[in-house]
Amino acid sequence: MIEIKNLSHQFGPRLILDNINLNVPVGKVATIMGSSGGGKTTLLKCVSRLLTPTNGEITVDGLNAIEDPEGTRRKMGMVFQSAALFDFMTVTENVLFGVRRHKTEKEKSEKDLVAEVLEDVGLTPDAGKLMPSELSGGMRKRVGIARAIALRPKVMLYDEPTTGLDPVTTYVIDELMVRLARTQGITTLIVSHDVSSVLRVSDQIAFLTGGKLVFDGTPADFETSTQPEIQEIIQKSRATEFVLTH
Ligand SMILES: Nc1ncnc2c1ncn2[C@@H]1O[C@H](COP(=O)(O)OP(=O)(O)O)[C@@H](O)[C@H]1O
Ligand SMILES: [Mg+2]
Repeated sequence: MIEIKNLSHQFGPRLILDNINLNVPVGKVATIMGSSGGGKTTLLKCVSRLLTPTNGEITVDGLNAIEDPEGTRRKMGMVFQSAALFDFMTVTENVLFGVRRHKTEKEKSEKDLVAEVLEDVGLTPDAGKLMPSELSGGMRKRVGIARAIALRPKVMLYDEPTTGLDPVTTYVIDELMVRLARTQGITTLIVSHDVSSVLRVSDQIAFLTGGKLVFDGTPADFETSTQPEIQEIIQKSRATEFVLTH
């Protein structure tokens, strides 16, 4: 579960997040939409405690995230848009990177763990030997997700996980994020611009604009929202022709 209460964040004098309240129940998938530069990544960084918010409370899986940033990060897997794989390491070494840094006791052999998480993301153990340069964009994403879930997180954060992927690969990654939430009970928070993706993956959609959350509801509520900025993105994402005015 993720609970965000009265969260505000300023970079210098600029108020980027303005009194945000958002709850994501255990095992549910919530998506944050909103314009570029609107503070979505900043919100994920506050939740993952890469940033200390100016104000507010955050609880992650019962833990006070403001007081315990280290503990919070241990409960969490993150897939950031730019979070590239290490090009000089094999897939296996990439997957084990976080595990080797964080885990103190070894419950399982590394080989078994790698095979298990690769299977979780739809890859065979053979993929472990490959170098990142040998992987397609979709496979790279899967390996990034495998690296994050190897720590068996309670919460997963994904920042624009399908930006730049083709529609078929996008579908596969969408299905994977939802499957991990459903089968492993991972509470999931995704930032995305892709309306068709968002409507099919989300239990809950939040819309961030001008630093405020102006919508928080189901996909059905989102589609029928009368809020102009929400209507605009739904209409434009579905538009099949232009209205040329000049
Ligand atoms: N470390 C930082 N210092 C100062 N300003 C920042 C920093 N990170 C982000 N910003 C600014 O905060 C705003 C929100 O950024 P961001 O959260 O990345 O937006 P989004 O992910 O919605 O595109 C932007 O105007 C950005 O320039
Ligand atoms: Mg961003």
